[in-house]
Order: sequence, then C-alpha cells, then structure tokens
Amino acid sequence: MDQIAPERLPRHIAIIMDGNGRWAQKRALPRSMGHRAGVEALRKVVKTCSTLGIKVLTVYAFSTENWSRPKDEVGVLMTLLTEYLKKELQELHQNNVVIRAIGGIVDLPREAQRELENSIKRTSNNTGLILNLALNYGGRSEIINAVRTVCKDVLSGKQQIEAIDEEQFSNALFTRGLPDPDLMIRTSGEMRLSNFLLWQLAYTEIVVIEDLWPDFGEKTLIDAIKTYQKRDRRFGGIHTD
Ligand code: FPP
Repeated sequence: MDQIAPERLPRHIAIIMDGNGRWAQKRALPRSMGHRAGVEALRKVVKTCSTLGIKVLTVYAFSTENWSRPKDEVGVLMTLLTEYLKKELQELHQNNVVIRAIGGIVDLPREAQRELENSIKRTSNNTGLILNLALNYGGRSEIINAVRTVCKDVLSGKQQIEAIDEEQFSNALFTRGLPDPDLMIRTSGEMRLSNFLLWQLAYTEIVVIEDLWPDFGEKTLIDAIKTYQKRDRRFGGIHTD
C-alpha cells in the first residue's frame, strides 16, 4: 500500500465485476456460488477503498441486459443484493460509507428497493467513501433519460437550447454531483465497456485484469492503482513542460 502515491490517488474508481460464472464453472460449482464469492470480493474491495481514502467506488452489480439471464440467476443476484445490504449496512455505516445507487431502481424487486432506500437514507450523512451501486443500469438508457430531462426543461422554458452544455447534461445523469471515474477496472480479461458509464468514461484510464472477479483482492486493487499512477493523462492535450 505504501507504494501508492497518496497525492495521485484516483478520486473515483469504477469496476466491471466480471467472471463470477467462469470462477464457479472452473470449480464445478453452480453459478450462484460464483456470485456469492463475488459479493465477498466486493466486501473486501469496499474496505480497501475506504482505507485508502478513495472518494467514490462505482460497481456494476446488475446491468439492464442482465434481465435476460435465466430467472433463477436473476433471483439469486437480487437476493444477494438484499442480503448484502442487510448484513453489511451496520459495518458500512460505522466505516462512514455513503451508499448510493444508479440505474432503474424502481424496476428492482420490492424487497431490494426497500433495503436500498433504507441503506441510502441511513448513510446519507456520512462523509467517507461513496459506494455507488449500478443496478439495472445501462449507459445508453441513462443518456436517453437525461435527454428527456433536458427536453422537458426546454419545453417548459427553463432551459435555452443554446445554453445546453456538458456540465448541464452531466447534471441530468444518474451520477449527478459525482466526479467522472479516473480509473475503470474490468476483471476477467474482457476488453469491453458493456454499456457501463458511457458518458462518464470519456477520459477514464482503463485497466483490464485477467483475474476473475471472485479472485480480486486488495493486492489486485493496489496493482491497478499503481498501473493508473504510471499512466500519462493528457485529456486530449499535450504536455508543455
Ligand atoms: C459478472 O459475472 C457479474 C455479474 C453479472 C454480477 C456482479 C454481481 C456481484 C459481484 C454480486 C452481487 C452484487 C451485489 C452488490 C451484492 P458473470 O456472471 O457475467 O461471469 P461470467 O462472464 O464468467 O459468466
């Protein structure tokens, strides 16, 4: 951990937690066990981010496309979410973590919504790590949703078309108020965005890791941050020094 430069920590880390199914398959276990092990990995990563002083951690827990999985698997993922919130809330709260969510939350099962609302409310005055759960989330649908919001403001006369800018548009996204991710990590070696934070990742450094998500731990996270710190971020410009 002491090899990380504290002044160049990523403020916001986003993670595509991929490979739970393959992890289970390699061990001849049901996919549900892979997701269970995935929750355990998430628990550890939240702790490490909190200790390191990362401001925001956004995790892709359920995408708009994940509804197309077998009903049982969707059920397992929703149950794990509810269980995670029930079991971890106390500790997350004690660790000053703020829970937030992005995505179509109203379409989640009622029980999951209830736990989520409760966790968000309970932790809303905390000042530590923001744990942002992407649930029933899709980048394209988020952008369309934001376009609708802006159009309504134009129609009601609240917004001038010419005055629409990137900052205002960002404020119509679910991630309103959060900095864009500095670092996006994807596990299991896949080189895709999979509809994750399409607007917000414009200038994000991407680190793809071969490990499957359940094998991800403190060391892997620290290695990814070290890789990020070696990158030369130019945001489309050039260095003049
Ligand atoms: C991808 O693995 C992972 C998911 C679709 C879900 C991620 C969920 C968790 C880590 C646990 C639940 C989250 C919370 C917040 C409690 P995959 O199933 O696509 O793996 P595969 O590509 O190897 O099949």
